[in-house]
Amino acid sequence: MEKILLLHGPNLNLLGRREPDVYGSQTLDDVVRLARKLGEDLGVEVESYQSNSEGDLVTRIQKAAGVIDAIVFNPGAYTHTSIALRDAILGVGIPTVEVHLSNVHKRESFRRQSVLADIVAGQVLGFGVESYLLGLRAAVSLVRSQRPTPPRARPARKRSTR
Ligand code: DQA
Repeated sequence: MEKILLLHGPNLNLLGRREPDVYGSQTLDDVVRLARKLGEDLGVEVESYQSNSEGDLVTRIQKAAGVIDAIVFNPGAYTHTSIALRDAILGVGIPTVEVHLSNVHKRESFRRQSVLADIVAGQVLGFGVESYLLGLRAAVSLVRSQRPTPPRARPARKRSTR
């Protein structure tokens, strides 16, 4: 069974209490519960990790090498600054989908830049919790489309009677 890592950056532990007009009223536990439920339906295992620390996120990405098939990542404010997270994703080569609850393009201009944008498989943003769920679906289809399909059993050749 494929394993998908949901990775959450700084301040996302405050979801539900933090600027609810921007990020909604659901908590991080709600997000993870919904993602795990969808994971069950899609037939994948969903792991989750949140940290407020850039170094811990780098370490978690490194530990994912060889174990995790794809990452669904909301890097929070590190989206806009962290070359270390960019390098970690490049370093392990795990396909990653970047997600954001808010539409960062409708907000302050400094949020419009993502230092991960050109190295991730794609971005989903502006749909609240649904961004994670769409991101999870995208990650699963990405992994499944990259996996080589097993060769079909060939029908046995008829022996020539001559
Ligand atoms: C965010 C957007 C970031 O700009 C912000 O720093 C966050 C949350 C989002 O999910 O909309 O922490 O990643």
